[in-house]
Amino acid sequence: MKGEQGMHRVWIKGAIGVALGCAVISGCALLESEEAAKGRKLYNHYCMHCHGESGQQQEGFNWGRMPDPRPRDLSESSAMSTFSDQEIFNTISREMRDTSLQEVLDDENYFAVPTMPTFKYTLSEKEVWAIVGHVRTLHGGSLEFDVEGRGAQLESEFNAAKAEYDQAKKVMEEAVAKKEAEDAAKAEAAEAAAIAAGKDPDDIEEDYDEYEDEILLPEEEAFEVAEEKFEKAKAAFEGFSKRPKMAQIRRPDLTVSDDGERAKLEEEGKHLYSKKYGCHGCHSIGDEGGLVGPALDRAGFRLNDTWVYRWIRYPQGMKKHTRMPNLGFDDHDARAVTAYLETLRAPKPENPIPLPE
Ligand code: HEC
Ligand code: HEC
Repeated sequence: MKGEQGMHRVWIKGAIGVALGCAVISGCALLESEEAAKGRKLYNHYCMHCHGESGQQQEGFNWGRMPDPRPRDLSESSAMSTFSDQEIFNTISREMRDTSLQEVLDDENYFAVPTMPTFKYTLSEKEVWAIVGHVRTLHGGSLEFDVEGRGAQLESEFNAAKAEYDQAKKVMEEAVAKKEAEDAAKAEAAEAAAIAAGKDPDDIEEDYDEYEDEILLPEEEAFEVAEEKFEKAKAAFEGFSKRPKMAQIRRPDLTVSDDGERAKLEEEGKHLYSKKYGCHGCHSIGDEGGLVGPALDRAGFRLNDTWVYRWIRYPQGMKKHTRMPNLGFDDHDARAVTAYLETLRAPKPENPIPLPE
């Protein structure tokens, strides 16, 4: 009898422990909201190799391979709680910039570590917020930022811009119709006057042209402004819940006939590789660099340059769920980095690991 009661008490203690643990620690499927589950899943897919499942140093398999500065301890609450939700968001969802430039290093609002990749071009804004929410749980905090409110704000901005656009369009169409009618009336009057003056009807065309001008009406200019605003609001609203999608990248012509120019491009590509895009955080060349993606020592032999160009500009266009983020390349940078990868032609390892028989 006594024994049974003891067991009972232990069971209750355990249950309370689990319930408390669930409330404090993430990863409890039972009490986890849908957003929290999404944040955890995305973190485990895109961040865990460098930051570790619980955010601790040395934990992710890539941590020890990272060049300085290595990922900080995301579970350390005294430091992490000094960052606002928005600051963490901005780090994850920023523009990659060349960190060898003084102006970039001096910009206090910019997180100038190239080996922390951006996810701005890979995930939706809402997904990034879900990840920020998960990062908060790693140091025992929680997201304070009002994500639903942000979505509602973008929606109402979109609706307002749409109404403005529709109105501007209507006003413009009326103004254009009025101007056209006026022009036609003037042309008709000119034609009548010309005929009355006994002119050759073939010359009348010239007089008519006078009334057609290329200058935009103020209503047309106002419409263009409203249209641009509308496109922006639409992109922001769509980007909130949808992942960025690009048109398929076309096969580029990568020939550079001038050797001097090619050498310059390769040099620039090598610089961008580490100082702007931090590729070495995930890829190794020789003994240096991360292990998240394949080693690139022999990229120049193994990979076709037009394929590399298209891959680095839009990895998700070729492999939807790849762990390699879209880093927001433009054409020029992609040409330079592709040219650099072409130069990577290390000899085959002398003692290759024998294939199993
Ligand atoms: C290729 C490795 C790598 C990946 C992948 C990666 N990070 Fe990082 N992260 C870093 C490095 C390097 C730093 C810079 C050192 C530091 O300050 O922690 C960093 C810094 C951070 C910081 C600290 C920012 C600050 O102001 O100090 C946060 C938060 C962060 N990463 C979150 C994430 C999240 C979330 C993901 C996934 C969406 C992610 N990281 C993916 C390498 C990585
Ligand atoms: C967050 C980690 C990460 C970063 C940063 C990253 N990559 Fe990758 N990369 C990968 C992964 C993972 C793959 C494997 C693709 C797959 O199968 O999903 C890959 C594949 C590749 C490939 C194809 C390699 C092969 O042998 O098939 C190339 C080329 C490449 N990356 C180049 C780059 C370049 C250049 C940069 C910098 C602009 C870069 N990567 C940045 C993770 C990363």
